[in-house]
Amino acid sequence: MSKKDIIKEMKRSGLRGRGGAGFPTGLKWELAYRTKSDKKYIICNADEGDPGAFMDRSVLEGDPHSILEGMAICAFAIGADEGYIYCRAEYPLALKRLNIAIAQAEEKGFLGKNIFNSGFDLDLHIKEGAGAFVCGEETALMGSIEGERGMPRIRPPFPAQSGLWGKPTNINNVETYANIAWIIMNGADEFTKYGTEKSPGTKVFALAGKIKNSGLIEVPMGIPLKDVIYDVGGGMKTEKPFKGVQLGGPSGGCIPAELLDTIVDYDSINKTGAIMGSGGMVVMDQSTCMVDVAKFFLNFTQNESCGKCTFCRVGTKRMLEILTRITEGNGKMEDLEKLEKLSLNIIKGSLCGLGQTAPNPVLTTLRYFKDEYIAHIKDKHCPAGVCTPLLLYEVIEDKCIGCTLCARKCPVDCISGEPKKVHHIDQDACIKCGACYDACKFDAINKS
Ligand SMILES: Cc1cc2nc3c(=O)[nH]c(=O)nc-3n(C[C@H](O)[C@H](O)[C@H](O)COP(=O)(O)O)c2cc1C
Repeated sequence: MSKKDIIKEMKRSGLRGRGGAGFPTGLKWELAYRTKSDKKYIICNADEGDPGAFMDRSVLEGDPHSILEGMAICAFAIGADEGYIYCRAEYPLALKRLNIAIAQAEEKGFLGKNIFNSGFDLDLHIKEGAGAFVCGEETALMGSIEGERGMPRIRPPFPAQSGLWGKPTNINNVETYANIAWIIMNGADEFTKYGTEKSPGTKVFALAGKIKNSGLIEVPMGIPLKDVIYDVGGGMKTEKPFKGVQLGGPSGGCIPAELLDTIVDYDSINKTGAIMGSGGMVVMDQSTCMVDVAKFFLNFTQNESCGKCTFCRVGTKRMLEILTRITEGNGKMEDLEKLEKLSLNIIKGSLCGLGQTAPNPVLTTLRYFKDEYIAHIKDKHCPAGVCTPLLLYEVIEDKCIGCTLCARKCPVDCISGEPKKVHHIDQDACIKCGACYDACKFDAINKS
């Protein structure tokens, strides 16, 4: 196939980048193809920084040649002769197998100079990342390959115009590249038989949380979330009812039970305020505190903010402080307004996707689970029983037989009572560690 025919087929396939944003792959290739330059690069983004995500890792470890094939087709189509796979150093097995795969491809003549006498050259290198979330952002990633500190750059110019060392560069995700050879071999028409009109193909997710069948799943786009959870995932692991599903990791959001009919495609997921992301899917039941979930993800983005943009650097810190005080029972109702205002400003004032999406977990939980925030603030109560400072442990008098086990287990000696008599917890001294609750064999400790 000619370069133009490959790009045409890719555009017809409608494949959208699996790294998170869902940008049409064929269009991206066309932009890089059209930019005239003596040198062009391709990059495979194998940074996979989302906590809990291991979709790309499984392809890197299990089928590295599928990535090399996708990269070779892309390089040929856009006119690149050199490429990098940016893979985190925390993936030693993936790195080992990538190295083996590159050596095998070179030995067989699929990589190197003048491949099969076609005049097409391609050399691929591996660059190990040190595990910074922001280095998955394409411009920060290129800075990291160049030996700079991994910090995002202003776009435009886009990588297709001026990327690695100022040369036109195409950057795609692992899963995106792994789809390419299949599309070229089977044709765009076969590919579009899966998925929806605007999000064709399949998507891999790392299904985790309170679900029976956790692990990696590959589903056709367009499948309702309900089917992913109750059919593919086998339903809830616990007796407790479903509460929400977190999609897209730290850049994503929480989708509540009433939106479970939402289908898995880029546009439908975006409408809920979450994002498809790279494929993290965490299922939560009623024992999950949504304020705590928002705090967890914000803590992550706040830690991982590179510090370049003031809104991202300082704004996420202020948001985290507010969330922390809410979960400790010191929140005020005006904090909710502040959280929303800060969120919108961070989205507007940040240069890269890290800051632009960091508030999503807070915004979606505020949108769908505001009652829980209010319970923490007004009633000083965590309905899910997660936020330790808000917990209350009390002895249920008619169940306590005075076995003394709780008092013996209490690390701060705040439980008093004589043997065979009802015990008592000193609330001022209690550190809410739950040791009494776990120890009691008579369900005589109430946690609320
Ligand atoms: C903070 C941040 C982290 C990112 N991490 C990754 C990552 O680990 N892997 C990835 O493929 N894309 C990641 N991206 C998206 C990339 O910037 C880029 O859009 C993607 O590699 C393009 O490939 P695609 O079109 O095939 O999705 C990240 C973006 C941001 C803002």
